[in-house]
Amino acid sequence: MINVTKTYLPDKDKYKKYIDEIYANGWVTNNGPLVQLLEKRLAEYLGVKNIVLVSNGTVAMEIAYRTLGLSGFVVTTPFSFVATTSSLVTNGLLPIFADIDPNTFNIDPAKIESAITPNTSAILGVHVFGNACEVEAISTIAKKHDLKVIYDAAHTFGVQHKEQSVLNYGDISTLSFHATKLFHTIEGGALIINDDALVQKARYLINFGIKNAEEIPELGTNAKMNEFEAAMGLCVLDDIEKIKTNRKAICEKYQKALNGFVKFQKHNEYATQNYSYFPILFENEGQLLKVQKALGEKDIFPRRYFYPSLDTLSYIEPKQHMPHSRDISTRIMCLPVFAELTEEEQNLIIDIIKENL
Ligand SMILES: Cc1ncc(COP(=O)(O)O)c(C=O)c1O
Repeated sequence: MINVTKTYLPDKDKYKKYIDEIYANGWVTNNGPLVQLLEKRLAEYLGVKNIVLVSNGTVAMEIAYRTLGLSGFVVTTPFSFVATTSSLVTNGLLPIFADIDPNTFNIDPAKIESAITPNTSAILGVHVFGNACEVEAISTIAKKHDLKVIYDAAHTFGVQHKEQSVLNYGDISTLSFHATKLFHTIEGGALIINDDALVQKARYLINFGIKNAEEIPELGTNAKMNEFEAAMGLCVLDDIEKIKTNRKAICEKYQKALNGFVKFQKHNEYATQNYSYFPILFENEGQLLKVQKALGEKDIFPRRYFYPSLDTLSYIEPKQHMPHSRDISTRIMCLPVFAELTEEEQNLIIDIIKENL
């Protein structure tokens, strides 16, 4: 069976050495030494000032909203994983969608301003499939309307924009380190916080709001990463260049072989790519379903990602209609990309797609 992704598992002996350390010192969670080491190494690797590790990418977004004190409406994209929208709703924030650019699949800056009202507190963009948003245009709009900017950067590990990490744009960027991601800690996530003054607040928020034995200054939750997860992250980080090189080769092969058969995502010309996903766009949903069925018959399971468009979620009020997002979500599919995908397997996937178009 070939799925859209396969968790990268690093060398077992290396992981075991970290586990031995954890057993020796007995420190399994609550900002342990491995979490601290991983924060330091990730800040260096990513080129960011402040990183706070948390238990997953969804909670990272929730902590971001609370760190920035958002309220009311948030302008966001309808084309993302459901957590982008549901995390707003579960925090009492109302998502107001701005449609996407049908070529980049990212929120279209030209659609943002008309979605802003006096009750809007922030813009929440997503660098979809690791493709950097038009960060400068979004920043200009945010400044004009005095709004906070958050990026759901769950897909954006290691992406540079104009010579610096794309994670440095906006007030806070959040990452997911779920097992399916390019870099992972089994479950996990992080906040990249640009204002030094807010880092301490986020650290209180992930630990029940507690400052010390006497003081609980914030209304917090439990969002801590544990040591076993950090150990996995330290091992995966050692191998990240190898992982990226393998994925790059796979993506480039798909691109070459499928050129002219399907459409591809248009990449931000000022940003690097991290090869975390390979989305292809069919002419219509019928084509997609035909290819999906043919691949499924050979036990190959690409993913309809993202589907459905988030403006169709039953719990979103008022009802909104985002034509580009709805259209793209019915025709897009992410192909299997992971280090161990063999050449024969990839050739088979390519052949099946071509034969069914
Ligand atoms: C765009 C996006 N945002 C948020 C999340 C949620 O992250 P997590 O699974 O770590 O909670 C995911 C993915 O899994 C995602 O793809």
